[in-house]
Amino acid sequence: MKGIVLAGGSGTRMHPSTLATSKQLLAVYDKPMVYHPLSVLMLTGIREILIISTPSSLPALRTLLGDGSSLGLEISYAEQAEPKGIAEAFIIGADYIGNESSALILGDNVFHGAGFPKLLCTARENLDGCTLFGYPVSDPERYGIGETDADGRLVSIEEKPLKPRSDNAITGLYFYDPDVVEIARQLTPSFRGELEITDVNQAYLKQGRAQLIRLGRGYTWLDAGTHDSLLAASQYVQVIEKRQGVRVACLEEIALRMGYIDAEHCHNLGAGMKNSEYGRYLMQVAQSVA
Ligand code: TTP
Repeated sequence: MKGIVLAGGSGTRMHPSTLATSKQLLAVYDKPMVYHPLSVLMLTGIREILIISTPSSLPALRTLLGDGSSLGLEISYAEQAEPKGIAEAFIIGADYIGNESSALILGDNVFHGAGFPKLLCTARENLDGCTLFGYPVSDPERYGIGETDADGRLVSIEEKPLKPRSDNAITGLYFYDPDVVEIARQLTPSFRGELEITDVNQAYLKQGRAQLIRLGRGYTWLDAGTHDSLLAASQYVQVIEKRQGVRVACLEEIALRMGYIDAEHCHNLGAGMKNSEYGRYLMQVAQSVA
């Protein structure tokens, strides 16, 4: 399975903070936002990842993450010239995906919860068509909402429904089989001029091959796309990290625990930024497993 992080967009809701930098490079407390979606792909066991972003943001993302080898990953980059919709990721990434299945995650989505790696790996193994991840929200009329039958099979998708049939918001993490590229190619742009991900999901729904996994009470899903939600995400991460003494979305630690890098390498990565608590944490983690 290939991974795609869609980290472009215009970030207009965060102007002026995003006039000169990518939203996905802003910090969620102690690390760049893009670490969060990357951590989800890594926890799914994906090592080949394509980062799609704007021409102006790609150089900084490359500086941050390089070719991924220091995390035991293979990271590639591609441009989205203009924000023409989430589903355009599959047109841009068509050659990269080839005949494989793929996991797409939005660059501003933050997920956290006990048992998430297991849930992700099981979803990957059982993928048949498309798998979406639903999250209960108190204001479903603001989201794309998925309704499921008793087996978790998706039976309807409604965009910002006035009378929602469920409270399951469809999050920004999507697993697809290789057909997604062809499905994306057949789409016509919406009235906004965008290739809409909901149209991709509707195509799988029509074929009866769409699943929705509900992330229950034990999970947190936040999108950090406004100043308030970014602050909330930062505070959430701060509380968890200070209280538990563990780090959320610490890519080097995940790489170590997944066996992509060894303890010595992890220690060296930490030593390279030992003036920060993050760097010192990496050195400690490396020592604890060595
Ligand atoms: P949005 O938050 O919907 O859009 P945005 O990031 O441009 O921000 P704003 O609404 O404030 O102008 O996008 C969700 C995520 O998907 C975000 O991480 C950016 C990414 N995205 C793209 O990379 N390309 C696109 O064409 C779209 C629509 C979104």
